[in-house]
Amino acid sequence: MKLQGKVAIVTGAASGMGRAIAHRYAAEGARVVVADVNLAQAQKVVDEIGGEKGEALAVDVDVRDQARVQAMVDQTVAALGGLDILVNNAGVGKIIPFLDTTEADWDFMFDINCKGLLWCSQAAARQMIAQGRGGKIVNLASQAGRRGEAFVLAYCASKACVISMTQSMALALAEHKINVNGIAPGVVDTPFWDQVDKQFAALMGLPEGEPKKRAVASIPLGRIEQPEDVTGAAVFLASADSDYVTQQTLNVDGGNWPG
Ligand SMILES: NC(=O)c1ccc[n+]([C@@H]2O[C@H](COP(=O)([O-])OP(=O)(O)OC[C@H]3O[C@@H](n4cnc5c(N)ncnc54)[C@H](O)[C@@H]3O)[C@@H](O)[C@H]2O)c1
Repeated sequence: MKLQGKVAIVTGAASGMGRAIAHRYAAEGARVVVADVNLAQAQKVVDEIGGEKGEALAVDVDVRDQARVQAMVDQTVAALGGLDILVNNAGVGKIIPFLDTTEADWDFMFDINCKGLLWCSQAAARQMIAQGRGGKIVNLASQAGRRGEAFVLAYCASKACVISMTQSMALALAEHKINVNGIAPGVVDTPFWDQVDKQFAALMGLPEGEPKKRAVASIPLGRIEQPEDVTGAAVFLASADSDYVTQQTLNVDGGNWPG
């Protein structure tokens, strides 16, 4: 029980890795806020956690909206008494060739993946600073943030931005004993990669499923990543075990990068 007594917000926790992290945090003793733009699905995750005897709360948030982000933190503190951990997991991606990338595509990815992460981190950090007992912020980056891809310019850039923001926030918050770190997953079996597969297939003239098959074939550990595969790192980076770790983004990708 590495997170006993802690309160955690996980954004984008209605699906995929956020859902898996919310489950694991509850199993480690945390009370978890399942924050998502899809409230009905977030409530389902809360019900699952409740059925496993954990304590959780669903909150409706669009991370792009500063007022709603502040309301998410206020609601957390009112219901659960404080805030110790923020996982910035909400994120989106779209596969588009460089020359076809529009302003709307760019804004869609940067508004959610980067600007939303900034609003959530500011609101959480202000609360953690006021409490005076430190805290942990964990950002979901990606192996895409460590390299370029011809069809993935905007998403890769947004995740490189997440890695950079992790470094700057870690330095800004170190004096408050708030650690800021990231996780860079690889090819994870979530609804996100189902969309990526469809978009790659259309662009490359391949049958659906084939892009995913090819991506998985290049993973040294020989299988697709499951959402649960990131939860060990997410617990480590949220627990006292990582008190002397900050500014880092940890690859959890089956050895896929560099590759
Ligand atoms: N799936 C992968 O292969 C992969 C690999 C590396 C990194 N990532 C990153 O990991 C994170 C989680 O990805 P996933 O695959 O679990 O995705 P997912 O699509 O399964 O879940 C994302 C969740 O974020 C929520 N969300 C989207 N926009 C939001 C907004 N504006 N405000 C609040 N919530 C919002 C969605 O409703 C959804 O529940 C993302 O940041 C993604 O970029 C994914």
